[in-house]
Amino acid sequence: MSKNHERTLVTCALPYANGPVHIGHLAGVYVPADIYVRYLRMRGEDVLYVCGSDEHGVPITIKARQQDCTPQDIVDKYHKIIKDSFTGLGINFDIYSRTSSEVHAKNASGFFRKLYDEGKFITKESEQYYDPEAKTFLADRYIVGTCPKCGAEGAYGDQCEKCGSTLSPEELINPKSKLSGAEPIKKKTSHWYLPLNDYEQWLSEWILDGHKEWRSNVYGQCKSWIDGGLQPRAVSRDLDWGVPVPVEGAEGKVLYVWFDAPIGYVSNTQELLPNSWTKWWKSDETKLVHFIGKDNIVFHCIVFPSMLKAYGDGYILPENVPANEFLNLEGDKISTSRNWAVWAHEYLEQFPGKEDVMRYVLTANAPETKDNDFSWKDFQTRNNSELVAIFGNFVNRAIVLTHKYFGGKVPACGTLLDIDKETLAEIPALKESMEKNIEGYKFREALKDAMGIARVGNKYISDTEPWKVAKTDMERTATILNVCLQICADLAIAFEPFTPFAAEKLRKMLGVCICAGIDHRKGEQETVNTYKAGEGAALHTVSADAVDPNAKSNCPGAAKCTCLNWDLLGNSEILPEGHEIGAAELLFAKIEDETIQAQLDRLAAIKAEREAAAAEAAAKEAAAKIEPQKAEVTFEQFDAMDIRTATVLEAVKVPKTDKLLQLTIDTGIDKRTIVSGIAEYYTPEEMVGKQICILANLAPRKIRGIESKGMILMARQGDGKMRFITPQEALVNGAQIG
Ligand code: 2FM
Ligand code: ZN
Repeated sequence: MSKNHERTLVTCALPYANGPVHIGHLAGVYVPADIYVRYLRMRGEDVLYVCGSDEHGVPITIKARQQDCTPQDIVDKYHKIIKDSFTGLGINFDIYSRTSSEVHAKNASGFFRKLYDEGKFITKESEQYYDPEAKTFLADRYIVGTCPKCGAEGAYGDQCEKCGSTLSPEELINPKSKLSGAEPIKKKTSHWYLPLNDYEQWLSEWILDGHKEWRSNVYGQCKSWIDGGLQPRAVSRDLDWGVPVPVEGAEGKVLYVWFDAPIGYVSNTQELLPNSWTKWWKSDETKLVHFIGKDNIVFHCIVFPSMLKAYGDGYILPENVPANEFLNLEGDKISTSRNWAVWAHEYLEQFPGKEDVMRYVLTANAPETKDNDFSWKDFQTRNNSELVAIFGNFVNRAIVLTHKYFGGKVPACGTLLDIDKETLAEIPALKESMEKNIEGYKFREALKDAMGIARVGNKYISDTEPWKVAKTDMERTATILNVCLQICADLAIAFEPFTPFAAEKLRKMLGVCICAGIDHRKGEQETVNTYKAGEGAALHTVSADAVDPNAKSNCPGAAKCTCLNWDLLGNSEILPEGHEIGAAELLFAKIEDETIQAQLDRLAAIKAEREAAAAEAAAKEAAAKIEPQKAEVTFEQFDAMDIRTATVLEAVKVPKTDKLLQLTIDTGIDKRTIVSGIAEYYTPEEMVGKQICILANLAPRKIRGIESKGMILMARQGDGKMRFITPQEALVNGAQIG
């Protein structure tokens, strides 16, 4: 690993605390970041891993209104759910704080104030929509109206969720305030703007010339922003939820959420390490990496760096911003509002003990270079055919056979045959590839390499068949199982970044621990953690300054246990002869069809519900469509029509037709036959006995050979649905209408 820095600061996009996190978030940001951090730590790098909830912004205030509670209630609720989900999945940030913290309010406010004092902002007056009844300016999301692009009702001032168009509130037809329903008016307001145009040249040199190695999706977005010409960007909003703008006369204004959120990375570092945070943010010895989703690229590559540049004072810039594309679910875009998602907290409840399976599947399918799809069938296949059938199966066979033939002790390695040597030689190559891939942010490929090691082991044990060899040659059996156990130890190292729970279980089975690097969760009292294997064994911790970098291991249990680290991966003598291993446990369990079907049924129910709601809305919309008025008629023309009440005496379907009923009616004048196209709307039984209105003097017509005298009056609505007209109370037949 080429290392020209002392430490690595890894940040993950701060999720909005207005809903739980779903698999799209996990695949896009948190799982890859976690792999990266675990890998670096195993390599002995000093890594700080920072995240937290993004607790400001308009959607949170909208949700609070919808649920009739305060924004604080909303963020309290979701902060906890999100935080617990991460912990449940083994994503252990050094700090997971919140942008509603005091430290952050002070820090973000101070950041703004310095830029303000130094004249780094410009102010601009603009006309914004204002709700005259609620007496407040309206953020784009608070204005709804008809989409000018697709005609859908309820489009937001910034986006139409129906057709996906980006909008501005001015474009909406019939804009209405979401707060009061009032028609918003334009009112002057003034805001602070960061003149991004002033940083264009600098950004171009830094990114377009200096970071050609960034992922093409990230580089491409930056290039198109910069080439398109940057504009000043507002950094304040008229809103009552957020960090107040720390300037006199700025009452009712807060920092724009995208101004304060990235500062949250710094605030959270300060909260954890009040005395030593600057070395993480203001030292050239620190490598900063932002893990984000593709919708965050402009903020992390253009806006936040410009803010830091404007601030000066030695803030470092990211060395890389590995943004992922989006993950779809069963072929459809993940959507919080449509409840089309697999929620992390629900997954953890429904699949206890299967945290690694989701991590594995999301990595194997990671949307690194293009949008990708998650499907439950693929989830099942990857679990059953890869984790269980290859990784788990190999480990299980090796451990079980070691107990069976050698009493649970690593047997001696005798003379290595070609097959042994060739097998062992494959692992260093896979290790090297893994390093290159992880350091190049290609986690999907890296996982293939790790799985490659399990495949090598599985093939080896199948080819060498130690259970057969044991019948005749225990020395050869010992060698085969020794090789197998060394590969198991390799797997315990290689899978630590991807499936940490299984890796830990495997280490316990093998009776080994691993150096997991410096854990900063205790703040300035840094510790080095090592995981001791075996039943009931405790976590070993060593204070960071007591670490001897030249020692083979700093684990306090080193005298008794074997300590793994990244460098040992591919070493064919990791486990010494005679080393005692623990009992075999299944690393992964098969996932049955019923489990998958239950998930598919859940999604199908959501889809059906959504489609029914859409159909209902469409029908309502169609029904409400009113036909324009017909051409004028004279009173005489109207008066010429003889409209009367009548009662249906008999009704039968006209044979061989779908739409026609033959009705015998009592008109008060006579009994006659009318053939009417109402069979689509009424059965014959429903018509008998009903009082209706008819046009009595319509010229008789033959319909299907039956003479029809007159016409039944029907009301027809926009969707074509028809109903006959009946007097409000029963009248004599033949009563004239008009
Ligand atoms: O897109 C989001 O979910 C944002 N809350 C990410 C913020 S990242 C950072 F800048 F804080
Ligand atoms: Zn639209």
